Amino acid sequence: MSLLPFCKWLADTPGSIALHESLFMYPLVESIHVLTLCLFVGMSIMLDLRLLSLALKRVKVSEVAGRLVPWMTAGFVVMVISGVALFYAIPVRSYQSVWFRGKCIMLILAGLNAWTFHSGIYKRVAEWDLAAVAPRAARRAGIASLILWAGIVVFGRMIAYNWFDCDKPQSAVVMFLAGCTGHDSH
Ligand code: HEM
Repeated sequence: MSLLPFCKWLADTPGSIALHESLFMYPLVESIHVLTLCLFVGMSIMLDLRLLSLALKRVKVSEVAGRLVPWMTAGFVVMVISGVALFYAIPVRSYQSVWFRGKCIMLILAGLNAWTFHSGIYKRVAEWDLAAVAPRAARRAGIASLILWAGIVVFGRMIAYNWFDCDKPQSAVVMFLAGCTGHDSH
């Protein structure tokens, strides 16, 4: 099931064309996307380092989470809104980007990881709040989060590079992963 026809329709909407051709709006939205990274990913890393007992070791895990999660949530919401706007401005090229597709898969896995943590081991945080070493499930969630968010940031950055774009000759593997039709022009 390809979303390409929908993305082509989206690219022809006046709003997408206006954002894509805007002199200041697109860079502004992208700057917000990058700046919010500091708020969201930066604080997420601090919580993960606490779970791994690599930072804030004498502060209760629940204290660290209690103070950071509201800011992380606010940052995440702004990242999703600005990200959707960036996609809306260049829907076809983004949809056929192996980097964007990889990033979306990692976003889903990072969401699953956070949900599993908060609905699982974190429910019993009072038992391990100041433990020298957090339970395995908590440390696993911390490591998975660090790896996934690092991957999301790198893949997000790589979207701008056209190495694997469909309007260039590509290998069969890239054509498959990017959803190229063989007669794409961006
Ligand atoms: C919430 C977690 C997210 C993180 C941490 C993230 C991170 C990033 C980063 C680091 C970049 C590179 C910015 C640059 O240096 O130019 C980027 C670009 C981009 N992101 Fe996200 N992003 C997130 C969510 C999203 C979502 C939900 C979407 C769309 C549905 C999205 C769409 C894009 C697009 C289209 C670009 C490419 C912009 C360009 O190169 O012109 N992002 N993202």
